[in-house]
Amino acid sequence: MSMAELPKIELHLHLEGAAPPDFIRRLAGEQKRTLHGVFAEDGSYAYRDFNHFLRVYEEATSVLVGPDHYGRLVTAVCETLAEHGVVYAETFVSPDFCGGGDLAAWRDYLHAMEEAADRAEAALGVTLRGIVTPIRHFGPERSKAPAICAAETAGRFVRGIGLAGDEMQFHPRDFLWAFDCAREAGLHTTAHAGEWGGAKSVRDALEALSPERIGHGVQAIEDLALVDHLAETGTVLECCPGSNVFLGVFPSLPKHPVERLRERGVKVTISTDDPPFFHTTMSREYADLERVFGWDEEIFAEVNRTALAAAFCDEDTRAAVAKKLETT
Ligand code: ADE
Ligand code: ZN
Repeated sequence: MSMAELPKIELHLHLEGAAPPDFIRRLAGEQKRTLHGVFAEDGSYAYRDFNHFLRVYEEATSVLVGPDHYGRLVTAVCETLAEHGVVYAETFVSPDFCGGGDLAAWRDYLHAMEEAADRAEAALGVTLRGIVTPIRHFGPERSKAPAICAAETAGRFVRGIGLAGDEMQFHPRDFLWAFDCAREAGLHTTAHAGEWGGAKSVRDALEALSPERIGHGVQAIEDLALVDHLAETGTVLECCPGSNVFLGVFPSLPKHPVERLRERGVKVTISTDDPPFFHTTMSREYADLERVFGWDEEIFAEVNRTALAAAFCDEDTRAAVAKKLETT
């Protein structure tokens, strides 16, 4: 079976970050808008470093201006997921970008995204669910409206709350109100940590927010006591090796800790983060892990079982996805 055919689960995917550059260019063209400093000469996204990446991301996202655009984005993203054998994905969506935190506007955006996801599921067999994600560098005050949006629309599609953006800004405890608000509505929890802020950032996020999963978390490798704690508590890491290498968190894939973490008993899963920004796909991630660490079908099956067990979907969806993992 080729890497593209292998059934996969992806738990860490930013919706706007998954927008193909051509898709963003087309939307800009339709609105007769010129985007400055977003694209390289070859048409791909261009940025210098992580902070610049966040700014380019927000500039590219600025052409997504209504529910219809988000519906089209979900369709485009699901097509790519299906091409790479992804049968179930969770995507980070931010009311900040979808109506500016206004609940009525968010409901319209959500409706368009859910409709597109349902159509993609029927046509392509890929199931998509959402994790509402306040943006850390927008600050704690601005995390409250997204949390209320999440809590008010918790259901079949909206399954959790996350925390993305620049983890060097603020402290995870500043977002406790948002996490508690979402938790009270029955939502699951994950937070970016340990992508840039070292092992301490993972400890801080765990202590302050008690998330079920950690986005990245890979810098925990600096602190083996923390690694053992992650293993003992069964905390799932949403690892995105290609993203980390492209952004320079680790100098190369052989130096990436995903295999050391796995060998030490940490529950690791594999995702792409913002695939066109990092010139990656799920098939490419798997092919690279096979080449560099010798991961075989058995290891990929184990990683996907881990991801399915940690998925935020309801139990009927989990059972349906399990069948796809077994039979394909
Ligand atoms: N938003 C989009 N991609 C991100 C990443 N890799 N880290 C933090 N925030 C993000
Ligand atoms: Zn991310």
